[in-house]
Amino acid sequence: MKALQLIFRYIKYFFTAKSKHSAQAPFLYELITKVIDKRTDDSNCQSIETLRKELCKSEREIQITDFGAGSTINNSKTRKVKDVAKNSAKNAKFGKLLYRIIQFYKPKNILELGTSLGISTSYLAKANSNSQVFTFEGCPETAKIAQENFDKQNIKNTSITLGDFNITLADKLKKIETVDLTFIDGNHQEKPTIAYFEECLKYANNNTIFIFDDIHWSDGMENAWNYIKAHPKTTLTIDLFFVGIVFVKSELSKEDFTIRF
Ligand SMILES: C[S@@+](CC[C@H](N)C(=O)[O-])C[C@H]1O[C@@H](n2cnc3c(N)ncnc32)[C@H](O)[C@@H]1O
Repeated sequence: MKALQLIFRYIKYFFTAKSKHSAQAPFLYELITKVIDKRTDDSNCQSIETLRKELCKSEREIQITDFGAGSTINNSKTRKVKDVAKNSAKNAKFGKLLYRIIQFYKPKNILELGTSLGISTSYLAKANSNSQVFTFEGCPETAKIAQENFDKQNIKNTSITLGDFNITLADKLKKIETVDLTFIDGNHQEKPTIAYFEECLKYANNNTIFIFDDIHWSDGMENAWNYIKAHPKTTLTIDLFFVGIVFVKSELSKEDFTIRF
């Protein structure tokens, strides 16, 4: 039933999504032509994808501590790393999109809710070594592998905060003071997603970018996405179906775009 709903939502998205030529504002035009529609395949991305391939073959077993909406694919406590890598990580297309967003807008302080094995974190971190990536994960055994993956790749600009987002996020934000980009990819439920958005907003500046994963994954996530789009602080939003991008720049007019990706 859930899969059918998702297919239905995707079909709706596909037929309402605009092509890039409808983009009027220079900001949006630049975002589409220089970030969304660009292709990337440099050595950083290639090495992250080599790591993904290794993880997708790993028979190593870990104990999962699940704080979030849980997996619809495998809810057992013990899982193989290869299953986590195949089912939880954003794919290369979206990893590279994150990479281009960081390279283009150069956010300094980057927050990621949901480290998992560190694949998307690697894209965030390697895009700009002058940025600092603060990534959050609740499952200690998963976070341990993520740290191993950062060490393997010599990633130095990343730190993992371990624990439930509901507890760790507010404390960490107080220390960081300002956030330039937030990628929310964990606990895909309506109320927590809205709460994380509101909490991060307190530390946002005019250039802060929010990226939400799985905005159409469930009715709850649809509601959260609609709430975020309607929020008075939100100006431009981009719906790419599997992710939503939100800008709070006050000089932009309030507009919601759905773009094929
Ligand atoms: C979809 S995975 C993240 C995938 C990762 N961003 C990537 O693309 O490589 C979501 C992660 O969020 C973690 N998580 C979910 N809810 C959480 C919570 N309330 N507190 C801490 N971690 C949580 C899960 O343990 C899981 O590892």
